[in-house]
Amino acid sequence: MKYDAQNCVLISKDKLTKTIYDFRLQNKELAALTKPGQFVQVLVPGKTLRRPISVCDVNGDIIRLVFEVRGEGTEILSLMKPGDEINIIAPLGNGFELDKNKKTIFIGGGIGVPPMLYSAKQCGENATVINGFRNKDAVILSEDISSCVGNLIITTDDGSYGIHGFVTQPLLELIDSAEMICACGPTPMLKNISAMAKEHNVPCQVSLEQRMACGIGACLGCAVAVYRGDGSTFYKHVCKDGPVFNSEEVAW
Ligand SMILES: Cc1cc2nc3c(=O)[nH]c(=O)nc-3n(C[C@H](O)[C@H](O)[C@H](O)COP(=O)(O)OP(=O)(O)OC[C@H]3O[C@@H](n4cnc5c(N)ncnc54)[C@H](O)[C@@H]3O)c2cc1C
Ligand code: FES
Repeated sequence: MKYDAQNCVLISKDKLTKTIYDFRLQNKELAALTKPGQFVQVLVPGKTLRRPISVCDVNGDIIRLVFEVRGEGTEILSLMKPGDEINIIAPLGNGFELDKNKKTIFIGGGIGVPPMLYSAKQCGENATVINGFRNKDAVILSEDISSCVGNLIITTDDGSYGIHGFVTQPLLELIDSAEMICACGPTPMLKNISAMAKEHNVPCQVSLEQRMACGIGACLGCAVAVYRGDGSTFYKHVCKDGPVFNSEEVAW
């Protein structure tokens, strides 16, 4: 596969919380190619290594990225202004395998919530989304998501908004009616969801996050241990073979 780096125009920039930004980038060709659950590698001015960011949504020729400022790279990115050009390599990774006729539960934890918008919207009324956050101030994308899915449930760790507790609480009540689960968020959350899916016999796809350098399978920087059929393990690349994996494949 050939990876093209292309410039996009930053059409709009919004601040969703104190540390989370919402960028809309215009590029007709890349928008048309992008599938739910895929990511882009963003070139940050002054940095050699690109930063991986999931595609939050695609509307016409607009690719939407929602990211949190974590370190120097995302800080520099957050200072870019509408009208600026941003260079991205996209679309990358495999994305979620979705069937709009299947009752699917989408689960996002914290900054794992953005890719759930474009993914869940594919299943419309058949999508239930469960999003978990630390507290009320961290809640993002609720209106965007509730406007295009059957049901949105929000949990917060401290009970300041929605259900008090973790995403696994409402999941337990709904899991037996689900035909598929798709999840993105912190590893302990994904591990718990994966165990629940196995116990209740529901297929589950998880989007994993690993530190990445090249983003295209060339540096071995993003290895994740997965099972072979005989129970032994080997390594796959999160950037090229993922970021989405069948949860039973992952050697948690
Ligand atoms: C497939 C994928 C999708 C992602 N989607 C999103 C998203 O939608 N929104 C969002 O806010 N964040 C997302 N992340 C995490 C985001 O890539 C990191 O927060 C970001 O790279 C941190 O860069 P930094 O320069 O600010 O931090 P620094 O810690 O200064 O980064 C130093 C180096 O480590 C790498 N790095 C650091 N943390 C991560 C990380 N968690 N994952 C991968 N590389 C990392 C950076 O690319 C850089 O090369 C995603 C990560 C992956 C792997
Ligand atoms: S980031 Fe280089 S191989 Fe995945």
